[in-house]
Amino acid sequence: MKRVDDFRLKLGDSELVPIMIGGMGVDISAAALALEGARLGGIGHISDAMVPAVSDRHFKTRFVSEKAKLFKYNAANSDKSKVLFDLGRLAEATQNHVGRTMQSKRGDGLIFINCMEKLTMNAPRETLRVRLRSALDAGIDGITLSAGLHLGSFALMEDHPRFRHARLGIIVSSLRALQLFLRKNARLNRLPDYVIVEGPLAGGHLGFGMDWAKYDLRSIATEILQYLQAEKLAIPIIPAGGIFTGSDAVSYLETGAAAVQVATRFTVTRECGLPEDVKQEYFKASEDEIEVNMISPTGYPMRMLKGSPAIGAGNRPNCEAYGYLLDGSGNCAYITAYNREVLAHPEAKNVVVLDKTCLCTHMRNFDCWTCGHYTYRLKDTSTRLPDGSYRLLTAEHVFHDYRYSTDGNIALPA
Ligand SMILES: Cc1cc2nc3c(=O)[nH]c(=O)nc-3n(C[C@H](O)[C@H](O)[C@H](O)COP(=O)(O)O)c2cc1C
Repeated sequence: MKRVDDFRLKLGDSELVPIMIGGMGVDISAAALALEGARLGGIGHISDAMVPAVSDRHFKTRFVSEKAKLFKYNAANSDKSKVLFDLGRLAEATQNHVGRTMQSKRGDGLIFINCMEKLTMNAPRETLRVRLRSALDAGIDGITLSAGLHLGSFALMEDHPRFRHARLGIIVSSLRALQLFLRKNARLNRLPDYVIVEGPLAGGHLGFGMDWAKYDLRSIATEILQYLQAEKLAIPIIPAGGIFTGSDAVSYLETGAAAVQVATRFTVTRECGLPEDVKQEYFKASEDEIEVNMISPTGYPMRMLKGSPAIGAGNRPNCEAYGYLLDGSGNCAYITAYNREVLAHPEAKNVVVLDKTCLCTHMRNFDCWTCGHYTYRLKDTSTRLPDGSYRLLTAEHVFHDYRYSTDGNIALPA
């Protein structure tokens, strides 16, 4: 019986354990987690979501308070078009985050950054350009383009000296999205180095509608594999979403996948950026406490625990400090929803907004508990302490369990 360790992922001159730990914003796939993935010979992701805020938390910088101060005058204004990021400061924050992570890297694996197009930051092209290029400047091993079609993202890096050497990949949830990407970038004569095929059981935002349950990862991955074979395109395919055991991973590797991307199992590791009490919420969750809803202002469905404090919260939009989802004209669906509720309940002390959430604020504060479909199985991956709480795992333990387990087994911590 095969194990994940019987396979290797070849990316350029690297030969890797075919396990990629997926990007989890905001700072859930923290540098410590990504570094473990690389140390153990696989691939770890940091996230480029809200990097200035992440930098403030880890490195005592003051990017957020400086921006908030600069635009304080606009806080009561629902038009946020003037609330722009300083591109120089954004570059500095990204270089700091990526640079420090890369300096700490040990082992033969790689560190990639997950870069979401949906973070439009009130100037979509300009901010994305800075984020991508600053990550390359700071020596990131690779960039995974996510949450969007990214039709113009390669062109934003085209004249960067590392454009043809860094590993660049994209996450798609359909063959159509991949075909669009390939067609749009054909003139650049540069294929993606890998394609992550993310199915509907993943955590975070989903690349499907609310009819996500009609789709399944295996069919999409097979369709994409067949297409690439027919087109004679040798691009490694990396399925993601609901791959919970080493045996699940092997079933994909045996049928043509080059690696797997996994995330949920790592949310309850010490190295994951979630606070310890939130990790316990993930452990405890039952299947009926997990939902896919439309409260993200991005317009994409998102999976999360129903107990997330972000659901129904009615805080004032915080775009002067954050503003990562402003669309380029100073709008965000949460601002519209919030203003509607304020108008409807002028006397209310606490505004309740049910249909949208202030995602920047709640992701920053770890109050939006986004999670994968199989989060309810995490309780079977650990043991309990005398006080009833679950024992946190190490990233190494989970990585090794994926790498060496067979027969659908999950190794419990010693
Ligand atoms: C808590 C959490 C946060 C996530 N955040 C992101 C993200 O910011 N960007 C992204 O592209 N994918 C995100 N994902 C998706 C993962 O990178 C990964 O592809 C997927 O969850 C793998 O499926 P699994 O969780 O069932 O292993 C997130 C997943 C989780 C569990």
